[in-house]
Amino acid sequence: MVDRSRLQTTKIWSPELMKGKVAFITGGSNRGMISEIAKAYLQHGATAVALMARKAEKLAEVVAELNAASPGGKAIAVPGDVRKSDGCADAVKSVVDQFGRIDVLVNGAAGNFLASASKLSTNGFRTVMEIDTLGTFNMSRECFNQSFSKHGGGVIINISAELHWNGSALQAHSAAAKAGVDALTKVMACEWGPHKVRVCGLVPGAIAGTEGMSRLSDISTMNDREASKSVHAKNE
Ligand code: HXC
Repeated sequence: MVDRSRLQTTKIWSPELMKGKVAFITGGSNRGMISEIAKAYLQHGATAVALMARKAEKLAEVVAELNAASPGGKAIAVPGDVRKSDGCADAVKSVVDQFGRIDVLVNGAAGNFLASASKLSTNGFRTVMEIDTLGTFNMSRECFNQSFSKHGGGVIINISAELHWNGSALQAHSAAAKAGVDALTKVMACEWGPHKVRVCGLVPGAIAGTEGMSRLSDISTMNDREASKSVHAKNE
């Protein structure tokens, strides 16, 4: 018979779930799923959430909105490009210098558009591989070396997709990139699990109202480089 009085229960949505935690989140300047994760962390007691994205102006606006809605924790903007390893090292250092450590890394930065593989340029393929896969690697390595390995562990959440599970037309770049992300999730879990780092893969699927969806839901934008610009313009 289970002695229920001895069971430890933690409410999943406890307002203190993230109490005292410092999170580093990449992506999020488009007010989609990633910035909502940042908002949820702050609403659940996080001390600080650092958001890193390339477009400094848009990022600053999102961070201001997060701070206005935050019950106490602080959101900070760390403009930067996850593809640049030196920039990632500096970004992680700046957050560790400011808050002492990082507890959670969310690798959310991703590029995507519709393109048939026969017409996709090498640079288009490389760009998405670099944002998603290389970016995940750069940031994870820096967080591990600069914080997790020194402060008793941490959590990495890699945002992935199901595109490569069975194949998905018009998504060679993103499917290959997310397959790489999933491989990193498994390898890092093996290597860093003994250091108390929990590495998780999250596959959210399509979410209405996000920039990702507006990029991927209109077939007329296929292989249209201008389409990315018009999607940006629409969302600005
Ligand atoms: C074909 C395109 C293209 C398009 C860009 N490229 N857009 N090719 N169709 N629509 C090509 C360019 O021609 C160029 O190659 C190369 O990609 C780099 O383009 P740049 O504009 O110079 O690069 P950059 O500004 O660094 O990044 C472009 C971008 C980025 C990768 C498209 O703006 C982007 O993706 N932003 C999206 C952010 C976002 O919404 N992320 C969430 C994704 S949702 P050439 O050869 O011409 O030099 C997601 C979930 C999927 O991933 C799962 C859903 C179920």
